[in-house]
Amino acid sequence: MKIVLAYSGGLDTSIILKMMQEKMNAEVITVTVDVGQKDNFEKIEEKALKLGALKHYTIDAKKEFVEKYIFKAIKANALYEGSYPLATALARPLIAEKLVEIAKKENADAVAHGCTGKGNDQVRFDLAVKALYPEIKIIAPVRELNLTRDWEMEYAKKKGIPVKDKIYSIDENLWGRSIEGGILEDPFEEPPEEVFEWTLSPEKTPEKPEYVTIDFAEGVPIGLNGKEMDPVELIETLNSIAGKHGVGRIDHIEDRTVGIKSREVYEAPAAITLIKAHKDLEKLILTKWVLEFKEIIDSKWAWLIYNGLWFEPLKEALDAFIDKVEADINGSVKVKFYKGNVSVVGRTSENALYDTKLATYEKFSTFDQKLAVGFIELFGLQSVLAYSSKSKLDPAYTPTEPVTAKKAIS
Ligand code: ARG
Repeated sequence: MKIVLAYSGGLDTSIILKMMQEKMNAEVITVTVDVGQKDNFEKIEEKALKLGALKHYTIDAKKEFVEKYIFKAIKANALYEGSYPLATALARPLIAEKLVEIAKKENADAVAHGCTGKGNDQVRFDLAVKALYPEIKIIAPVRELNLTRDWEMEYAKKKGIPVKDKIYSIDENLWGRSIEGGILEDPFEEPPEEVFEWTLSPEKTPEKPEYVTIDFAEGVPIGLNGKEMDPVELIETLNSIAGKHGVGRIDHIEDRTVGIKSREVYEAPAAITLIKAHKDLEKLILTKWVLEFKEIIDSKWAWLIYNGLWFEPLKEALDAFIDKVEADINGSVKVKFYKGNVSVVGRTSENALYDTKLATYEKFSTFDQKLAVGFIELFGLQSVLAYSSKSKLDPAYTPTEPVTAKKAIS
């Protein structure tokens, strides 16, 4: 039996790499997908081969991750339950796609992953693999054998698999860092400083604010401070600037697909900055009707991605709506980083609906204030009628005709 395993080099995937050879007599091919996690890919390859992998692939998918996944998330202002920018969730369908690619190329019988049966990642991997390659078998030993961390540590020791005594479960890519486990499982405990790697605590950030202008074209960032930039580099740069100012720490209670409520801690400096800036630019450009409707689309989009439904037709349909709207989102947003916060302090666009001649209180205003009277009359017609007819049923009602309603029916 030939199995293609999504291999990170961590405890779970190292254990199952060994186990599948021993218990299933399998030939295992390992695949590590580089989506921007700060790992030593040569060391990972070395480890895989040492643990008996037949062959190892390292695939650099950073550019693809940004252009096909992260850019879509920016256009959708994607925050699951209003908080989580979906770093882990976004990378899963891409990793699944690469696994399937290798499985086909190597003529494998199965693909394997190290997900537990309690999390979201199993849902994302399984659904993506099933959509892309329905015939292939999916093996998830941690889930199937109900493996626990303690058992895995024991097994690793017995088999001479090198593991670090890690307290936290961490997943990392360009769009953010997800941290779970240890003391974080007590939702009343403040996350200890040691869990953070990309962001400084606001107590330690520079005393001076820093300004950056983000340039957008068709809803996605194309440069910083007027200089065009490679998309991967742009996100890495923002991660480091915003992180230095303590921006992007997230601590929230999250509803998993399988029903569990969990306490999740994230670091996502670039994601938080870009979504905030992008949303602000949308407000300058889109009509109030589009903005209001897009909020519904955006939150549904994030919900789909979180729950592993990347290949669901609804997601494709929402993408079509979003792409149509985003064609107009061109311009620049000035943000200010200071003491754990990012604030938008300026925005400009050639497509802006904002018009100083309309908004101004100065005498060059072109807005005819007298028009407002009739507008208000008709705008509130039904609400005023409804309120006044209800008041009449109140025993304490004293009959004075409401001015607006009377005018409207006479
Ligand atoms: N709760 C997040 C999600 O479902 C993060 C999962 C992180 N995985 C991990 N191995 N720490 O997307």
